[in-house]
Amino acid sequence: MQHADAIKVTKAERSKRSDIDFSNLSFGKYFTDHMLVADYSNGVWGDPEIVPYAPICFDPSMATLHYGQSIFEGIKAYRMADGTAAIFRPIENLKRFNRSAQRMEMAEVPEHIFMQGMKTLLEVESQWIPKEYDHALYIRPFMFATDEQLGVAPSSRYKFMIICSPVGPFYSAPLRLYVEEQFVRAVPGGVGNAKTSGNYAASLHPTAVAKKRGFDQVLWTDAVEHKYVQECGTMNVFFVIGGRLITPSLNSGTILEGITRDSVIKVAQDMGKIVEEREISVDELAAAYKEGTFTEAFGAGTAATISKITELQYKDFTMSFDSEAMENANEIKAILTAIRDGVAPDPRGWMLHVAG
Ligand SMILES: Cc1ncc(COP(=O)(O)O)c(C=O)c1O
Repeated sequence: MQHADAIKVTKAERSKRSDIDFSNLSFGKYFTDHMLVADYSNGVWGDPEIVPYAPICFDPSMATLHYGQSIFEGIKAYRMADGTAAIFRPIENLKRFNRSAQRMEMAEVPEHIFMQGMKTLLEVESQWIPKEYDHALYIRPFMFATDEQLGVAPSSRYKFMIICSPVGPFYSAPLRLYVEEQFVRAVPGGVGNAKTSGNYAASLHPTAVAKKRGFDQVLWTDAVEHKYVQECGTMNVFFVIGGRLITPSLNSGTILEGITRDSVIKVAQDMGKIVEEREISVDELAAAYKEGTFTEAFGAGTAATISKITELQYKDFTMSFDSEAMENANEIKAILTAIRDGVAPDPRGWMLHVAG
């Protein structure tokens, strides 16, 4: 594909937009009218195309079903206060997507397919970007292996797609987390920092066990000592201790490098806050809680935005927080929301404007 080529668009016969109640959106349930598709084979990407959203057909031997070469991203487009539309930091998702592709021995997606494809799709679907507070159009780029052959080997063919879903808030209430010490999410040298499907499949059972105990999610600890905090579900975590923001460092390679995490760090530093990226043990959290210096805990992620944590259960010790009084979480969320709404300065050019 030549960079300047317009992407071919085949329009759906009828839009489903008016069938959907935007005031009552559950996360990831409704999809827009179109999707982007591009295929890779013999070392070459074909032209991406935008086509009506529809089921896809595949062979039962398709490699991804058996060996799990499958990666994805999550991005949001927002309707700004002046009625224009913009996508939040999508270039960072492209970079992470291709890091995931490298780790999973998959083809990398060229920038013009990912970015131009997404922009064009968003322009076609602009009526789907919600106006309501805390709502967005969630964009899901993904890629999977399409060789039709059994045997553990990297596929020679891949399908890259982008679908979109109008969404409201992911979590409707502050979260209660269970500090997980038996199951692990990721090991050093593994695939924890790749956004690959198997990581999420592996989290389902431990999360189901935590839910049966009355919690919303698990807070993962490290695989070696079950001592250091990692992350949570689909969010990175932040703690406020003695007024400083602390978040687990990415050095172990076991934590997803969240784009919201990076944004929170930068916004907090702009606010003059001290941010520490370092190892933090659950024992340190418990000790600070007992001293009364541990005052806030919150998660940060594209889907979850800033999600306050109201309870952390560590063995038989419960740490409870007043979610109303979380000044740091509130302030950071307000600034990020204002940037996304286009009502605060965007000095780093995080918002990529799209027509429509
Ligand atoms: C495991 C995991 N951690 C953290 C995050 C947060 O990353 P981001 O802020 O880029 O959405 C996500 C969401 O993508 C995730 O799935």
